[in-house]
Amino acid sequence: MIVFLMEPVRNLVRSVEIDAGKVRYTLNLYHEDFSALYPGMIRYSVIVMSGEQAIAVFRTNSFEYSPLVPLAAETISVQTVDEWEREIRNNPTGFLLNHRQVVTEHPVVTTSDLVIIQGSPRGDGNCSILAGWAVDAAHELGRTAQVIYPHDMDIRCCIGCYQCYNTGSCVFDDDMGSIISAIRGASLLVVCSPVYTNTVPGGLKLVIDRCQAYHAERIVSGGRTGQKGLVFSVAGRKGEENFTCITRVISAFLRNLGIDPVGEILIDRVDAIRDIRTIPGMEQNVKIKVKQHLVKEK
Ligand SMILES: Cc1cc2nc3c(=O)[nH]c(=O)nc-3n(C[C@H](O)[C@H](O)[C@H](O)COP(=O)(O)O)c2cc1C
Repeated sequence: MIVFLMEPVRNLVRSVEIDAGKVRYTLNLYHEDFSALYPGMIRYSVIVMSGEQAIAVFRTNSFEYSPLVPLAAETISVQTVDEWEREIRNNPTGFLLNHRQVVTEHPVVTTSDLVIIQGSPRGDGNCSILAGWAVDAAHELGRTAQVIYPHDMDIRCCIGCYQCYNTGSCVFDDDMGSIISAIRGASLLVVCSPVYTNTVPGGLKLVIDRCQAYHAERIVSGGRTGQKGLVFSVAGRKGEENFTCITRVISAFLRNLGIDPVGEILIDRVDAIRDIRTIPGMEQNVKIKVKQHLVKEK
């Protein structure tokens, strides 16, 4: 089910009718208040309509600009309205060639029922073994599964430009697109991570931060509900306190994407590369947990 998570308060602040020969265009400037999401965030949308169809869109929001820079979202969007009006009046065909854009929808890609993000750089380490058991559990139920291994992928770090709140997509075109598609399509997401200095390793943190674009997509275009998340983690030291930060980080990540954290398996005192295999009953525990939550969506 797709639901809209936050409807911004949208006001039409300017509307220009342009007669360009046979075609009539309407150029609208909207002020959209995203304060319910981020206090003070205002998005401006300039939309050119031809009849019922949007043929060009420009968006910008106040979080893109430093207060020290004498540019502001409002000024830029008003300038865009003026420029676009001039261009359409002078050369409508040229305007269409330069600005016409296909508005892309984000499809719900049903890639795998179970998606596991395996956060350890060790491809044959403890988290990798946990991930393998989770895949086996899905297959035993006749469900599909895939493991995402961020350390092998091309992922840039989030630069906090906030442009994803204009479009629902990131400015970077790298492997994050396929990771977000996989998360979008999963009914169960398992985040499987070693504890590194009390939190997640760098590669997994890149994924977590870049998923802000998926959060933005859900705000802008709506998103699924009913997805579930599990946290699997291993630590070298003894004691539950070693997981205090990592469980908070991963649960916050899941909630940010509308995914309900439904359980965790936290294993301390595992350091050597295959220690996890020496723990009696662990494979069974992992499989039971995965199967319990890999049920069909209603
Ligand atoms: C850079 C680094 C930082 C670590 N920090 C912690 C830590 O803060 N607490 C802890 O209990 N274990 C820590 N460990 C140990 C790992 O969590 C442990 O070896 C784990 O089993 C590795 O999982 P893997 O086999 O899936 O890579 C650290 C290991 C590394 C390499």
